[in-house]
Amino acid sequence: MHEFLKRLPKVELHLHIEGTLEPELLFTLAERNGVMLPYASIEDVYAAYDFSDLQSFLDIYYQGMSVLQKPEDFYALAMDYFRRASDEGVVHVEMHFDPQAHISRGVGLSTILEGLSLARQEAESELGLSSALIMAFLRDRPAAEAMQVLESAKPYWDILDAVGLDSAEKGNPPEKFSEVFGRAKQIGIPRVAHAGEEGPVDYIYQALDLLDVCRIDHGVQCLQDPALVERLRHQGTVLTVCPLSNVRLKVVESMQAHPLPQLLDAGLVVTINSDDPAYFGGGMLANFMACHQAFGWQEAVFCKLAANAIDNAFMGEVRKAQLY
Ligand code: HPA
Ligand code: ZN
Repeated sequence: MHEFLKRLPKVELHLHIEGTLEPELLFTLAERNGVMLPYASIEDVYAAYDFSDLQSFLDIYYQGMSVLQKPEDFYALAMDYFRRASDEGVVHVEMHFDPQAHISRGVGLSTILEGLSLARQEAESELGLSSALIMAFLRDRPAAEAMQVLESAKPYWDILDAVGLDSAEKGNPPEKFSEVFGRAKQIGIPRVAHAGEEGPVDYIYQALDLLDVCRIDHGVQCLQDPALVERLRHQGTVLTVCPLSNVRLKVVESMQAHPLPQLLDAGLVVTINSDDPAYFGGGMLANFMACHQAFGWQEAVFCKLAANAIDNAFMGEVRKAQLY
């Protein structure tokens, strides 16, 4: 099964590029940029990756980003990930990036996007790996700040495939960002949002009704509400589920306890994704393998999951046809 899953052309719809920062590159960039890290060794880093919930992860995730300062740092981050992903059979990556987490440290949008854009071009030409770009707003920051970021991104609107919403979910409902997402819609930028990871089902309704999203990132809490499940099924709304992330952030107790089989049984459009592979124990292949081991899924299920991701990617019809 490992060989089959490695060869299966995989499309990743839910990835935070800053969450691909492996400890080795973290140390390299820290040294290059003169950043002090609270870790003496790679073992220290892994010891710190023992999360109790989303917030405990976010604290470490934002700290790690402090080493990303120049275009070449963002280039190295993305290119390293694209090579690893390509090696495990990923053919297309839709990556969130968190501009506010960089702008607040004095690192501007042009720096971030210069590095990411170069890596995307090189991945396409050297690895045959295509990608899409999702500019995410931090939901635990003020909505006015998100609006400012959206407006200041005007020179880049045409390279954004979507805007997203991430960071600390509880207490930061999608409703807070209605205006920002309304503006994105007016500009013509598609929308996705994290909802129902740790937060209540009501946040999934809000993401659909107030943000008009085409995908729900995570969404695993939807099973608490049969009417919502029916609506998601009827609309064909895709859920970008991240099983290893959910285990590591204690959204679920274990892989065996993960609701993925119920989500599939309910007829929902499910995809499997890695979220933050450097922090949660592996990339797409590890997530697929974990599902095989926990649920005993065979080839047909994985082909369906891979097809769901292709169908719902921000990808032209020609590329979709290539991947089928
Ligand atoms: N949830 C919310 N925000 C995030 C995550 C996540 O899993 N990863 C990076 N930002
Ligand atoms: Zn995520």
